[in-house]
Amino acid sequence: MISKKIEKLLNQQIDLEADSSSFYLAMASWAERSGYNGVSAFLYRHSDEERLHMLKLIKFVNERGGAALIPALKSPPINFKGVSEVFELLLKHEVKVSNEINKLVEHCLADKDYTTHNFLQWYVAEQIEEERLARNLLDKIKLIGSDKGGMYLFDRDLETMQPHADQGI
Ligand code: FEO
Repeated sequence: MISKKIEKLLNQQIDLEADSSSFYLAMASWAERSGYNGVSAFLYRHSDEERLHMLKLIKFVNERGGAALIPALKSPPINFKGVSEVFELLLKHEVKVSNEINKLVEHCLADKDYTTHNFLQWYVAEQIEEERLARNLLDKIKLIGSDKGGMYLFDRDLETMQPHADQGI
């Protein structure tokens, strides 16, 4: 059984994961409209993954005797200045998610809730990979600069890239 405090914090995390999914969905939609088919495919997959992160938390909260709160949809932005801005925002968002996960882990230790602490280790590992990939992609975008051919290849590479571990880049 989780404490009320941990339940509340996990529900906040559910909200943040839903927000991530919606934010990346908006980015995917913008990229699709802007002709970046690969970037768009990557971001659609990323959005789906964030929904799975949310679902995993919902099931955990319910299984541990709490009540998962299903978040209301917020309105993410419609337009972005470019691919560079999209990935800057994505990295910033992932850093925020990592910070929140780390805070949750600290609270679990303080409350001696080792079950939730153990459950959250998957998120800790996932965040390391997601941040690493986002940084890597942003570095590539900076190298490409205004080179249209470079951006064409970047977009093509993202067509099949998975937004999580083992990308080997
Ligand atoms: Fe589920 Fe990328 O945070």
